Amino acid sequence: MSAAEAKDNVLIGVIGGSGLYHLDNLTFMKQVNPETPWGHPSSPISICALPSGTKVAFLARHGPGHAISPSAIPVRANIAALKSLGIRAILAFSAVGSLREEIAPGDFVLPSQIIDRTKGIRPCSFFEGTSIVAHASFGDPFSNKFVEWLEKPVREIIDAHGNGAKLHTGKCIICMEGPQFSTRAESKMYRAWGADIINMSVLPEAKLAREAELGYALIATSTDYDSWRENETTVTAAEVFKVLQTNANLSRTVAANILDELHEAAEEGHILTEEVGCMKYAIMPRS
Ligand code: ADE
Repeated sequence: MSAAEAKDNVLIGVIGGSGLYHLDNLTFMKQVNPETPWGHPSSPISICALPSGTKVAFLARHGPGHAISPSAIPVRANIAALKSLGIRAILAFSAVGSLREEIAPGDFVLPSQIIDRTKGIRPCSFFEGTSIVAHASFGDPFSNKFVEWLEKPVREIIDAHGNGAKLHTGKCIICMEGPQFSTRAESKMYRAWGADIINMSVLPEAKLAREAELGYALIATSTDYDSWRENETTVTAAEVFKVLQTNANLSRTVAANILDELHEAAEEGHILTEEVGCMKYAIMPRS
């Protein structure tokens, strides 16, 4: 494959969360809106080129203008649409609440574990409604090599441009249903369970990426201290909005500075190959 042809491959799909509705430093090439067996994605997907010519796909998780609530995101369509473009991995961004004092609003987190507190109302498997029974391995819900690879470049960008923001790694994210935020009692319970950050959208996204054999990593951006702190007010949407813009700007800087290197690493096969073939033995044989 020539270098020019390689650049034509879109290997990385970026999913933007609350506040992150576009990326910077990219040349817009086209929008695609694939129809999948699960419908259309949350928003048309933008195919953009980095200054080097490397192409990336960008999808706004909550739709144009943030019109889709977490419980209603067409996650199967999102993952299937990105997969149909030939991507190998998803770099997802999401606003999160912090359940730990040391993770301040404005900090970024690369989580390594997930606790599921969604209520079972979100379709979470491509096999639902079919006669196939499949059990994907999900003990490590994020792609370990991909997450490990991200740590160095993301830390460098945050140290250089983050105005004191920190990067935390090896943390556990709990995904709740919403749309209301947690009660004080729930927030304290999640801390006792070992969760460090909380959001409403990492699931079923991470599960479906695994079933689609795509690499998946999350850059979580902290907006608030949720509701566990004694004698402090509980989280409000207004508080979240105050930090969203700053976090989105830093997320754009991170993306603009790492996507080329990530694409190169992916082409060289060092990372983003972990999930290839992972569903081979996940499907239950019929007796
Ligand atoms: N997203 C941002 N902050 C959050 C919180 N405190 N709880 C759930 N999702 C969030």
